[in-house]
Amino acid sequence: MPRISYPFILVNCKTYAEATGDNVLKLSKIIHNINESYSVQIGIAPQFTDIYRVCLRYPDIPVFAQHMDPIKPGSHTGHILPESLKEAGCAGVIINHSERRIRIDEICECINICRELELISVVCASTPEICMAIATFSPDIVAIEPPELIGTGIPVSKAKPEVVKRAVNAIKKISPETRIFCGAGITKGEDVSKALELGTDGILVASGVVKAKDPEKVLIEFVEAAESTITEKRHPLRDLMEKAFAGKRALSKRALVRRLVRLGIPEEFVDQKIVSAEIQSILRKTYKNGEVYYILQE
Ligand code: G3P
Repeated sequence: MPRISYPFILVNCKTYAEATGDNVLKLSKIIHNINESYSVQIGIAPQFTDIYRVCLRYPDIPVFAQHMDPIKPGSHTGHILPESLKEAGCAGVIINHSERRIRIDEICECINICRELELISVVCASTPEICMAIATFSPDIVAIEPPELIGTGIPVSKAKPEVVKRAVNAIKKISPETRIFCGAGITKGEDVSKALELGTDGILVASGVVKAKDPEKVLIEFVEAAESTITEKRHPLRDLMEKAFAGKRALSKRALVRRLVRLGIPEEFVDQKIVSAEIQSILRKTYKNGEVYYILQE
């Protein structure tokens, strides 16, 4: 699976002229430069016909397709074959955008195909209830986007914070490993901060960047806002856990306890610390040969 880091900003080019053909390369160059200088990562979702040229010129940018069809290679004239997206260099796919909706069984199939092909699935949903239904398929990312706010400049994170919060809580309960984005009407750094404060892992944005007078200025404002928000939001146990993992991806519970004790946590508190860290989603629990292992979330 191609790895992206969170928080993540995904710029959807839709079919805007400002991000079509040569123009998408100009926007990609801006994204490439910003990604080199900031820790918050930006990805792009160009039109299908522009995917290959963006991937070729900027292989470092995570590129997403705006749609896929749940099909296998064969006779499907005019469809989008997932394997061709992978071959073109895509890191992931936006599925069920409100401007390109598909049936629930097709959403499920698309997510499964993405898993097989190691493509990141970003599945859009218009309400917290639909988010819940989609979360049962455990996609990589669910993006809550109330369609009535799309393209309005009225940010979902400020106009409908309760909708975002409800979506975050519901998705986390059903599929704790699924990441959550929100989108619609985001145009300012403060909209991005608010989205992250509500518990999301990133945003989906289109007109606020693509149609901006100065997309570079807007994107820099976004990443700077995201960086300062995560610094404030950083969980106090994070540093301790990073020291304990010391670059390792997974540790058995026994090894983690041993390391935490070595770092000075009194043994009687260790279990408590692990459990509370887990609740804060610093750690993910998994099992290997019947033994509990912990993975440090990014
Ligand atoms: O996919 C992103 C999108 O639908 C939001 O659009 O123009 O409100 O940022 P916009």
